Amino acid sequence: MESEKEQCKVEYTHLGKSGLKVSNICLGAMTFGKIEESPMAIFSCPTQADEEKAHGIMDRFVELGGNFIDTANIYCRGQSEHIVGTWLKKKSRDNVVVATKCRFSMSTEPNDQGLSRRHIIKCCEDSLERLQTDYIDLYQTHMWDDATPIEETLRTLDDLVRCGKIRYLGVSNLLGWQTQKVVDYTKFMGLAGFISMQQQYNLLTRHPELEEFQVCKTEGLGVLPWSPLRSGMLTGKYKRDEKMDPKSGRLAYDFEKNSQASYWTKYAKDTYWDIMAVVEKVAKTNGKTAAQVALRWLLQKDVVSSIIIGATSIKQLEENMSVGTGWCISKEDMETLDEASKPESASSYPYEMSRFGNTSRVNRFNPKPVVANI
Ligand SMILES: NC(=O)c1ccc[n+]([C@@H]2O[C@H](COP(=O)([O-])OP(=O)(O)OC[C@H]3O[C@@H](n4cnc5c(N)ncnc54)[C@H](OP(=O)(O)O)[C@@H]3O)[C@@H](O)[C@H]2O)c1
Repeated sequence: MESEKEQCKVEYTHLGKSGLKVSNICLGAMTFGKIEESPMAIFSCPTQADEEKAHGIMDRFVELGGNFIDTANIYCRGQSEHIVGTWLKKKSRDNVVVATKCRFSMSTEPNDQGLSRRHIIKCCEDSLERLQTDYIDLYQTHMWDDATPIEETLRTLDDLVRCGKIRYLGVSNLLGWQTQKVVDYTKFMGLAGFISMQQQYNLLTRHPELEEFQVCKTEGLGVLPWSPLRSGMLTGKYKRDEKMDPKSGRLAYDFEKNSQASYWTKYAKDTYWDIMAVVEKVAKTNGKTAAQVALRWLLQKDVVSSIIIGATSIKQLEENMSVGTGWCISKEDMETLDEASKPESASSYPYEMSRFGNTSRVNRFNPKPVVANI
């Protein structure tokens, strides 16, 4: 029988420039809970986990060395946080790093949205109650709020850190200029800084490398890629000429419900199949699955601290966690994957010009040039 140590599938890394150590695989809890007939197809998908199944997935995650769980108030309207909370109650709270988020509305009340002082404090208190804990390790703004002055948002988050309800702060889904603005304002105002950025990042979505991740690199924010398998597209389980079985997963279910307006119809274009062919080739030569290649590719990117995986079964969890340690994609295969998935925008103005003018400008007294290396 494998010893506990041999079973460990992860490594522990610092989250950005902070002193907080997290497993390089984070478990996403968006698939915990279910809403019948939700306008967001994912929340009513048959593969969503009920409390018992979700607890089993979290138990196995911890057994394999995971210590980092990501949820949000909005996931199944609080059900996900509630399920994580009932599980946490049975565990040693201090051994788990719990991340959650605020920003979106949970009701139709006019003040129940955005990043105002009032809404952030209410969201934080509600999340603490659902999670059955008295502190949140990583509190993340789920998106930008155009209507609230940034000073109001940042001061409120700093207050929550100072009174002990939050340990660290993170952002999610920002543009490059917004990320830099958040970082600069916290510095100028002398407030608690941000240590992470949760952004969609995978072999089919690389645009954040050009702007947001340049800020992360220079300012010490660890990147936490969400949808690392692009909702299942990068697993290779859907074939080009095969009819999708609606029970086989989130994308197939959405396709059946929404047909022409579905995620699959929108994104399964020729470029996707071209990238998938390269991923599958690398997988075959390495004796791995497409999902493992797509996940490991992310882990080998220097801005990434931990990848937020989604799993609707223990089998998926184990397959995905197996990339955390003990195997690396070779330099040549990384280059092949990089080239095949290169975003079109990387060679457009002004990125191309910026790279051309700066790659030879090296001053050993300055940090490395921050020109996107793609
Ligand atoms: N900040 C944000 O705005 C934001 C947005 C989205 C997600 N997130 C976070 O990121 C987490 C992960 O996102 P995601 O669920 O979209 O991740 P993902 O890795 O792109 O997709 C996960 C889904 O793919 C399928 N899958 C996973 N591994 C598989 C495997 N080995 N073989 C076959 N199918 C597999 C499963 O769905 P099926 O079984 O149904 O196919 C699973 O739920 C979320 O839980 C959440 O914490 C954050």
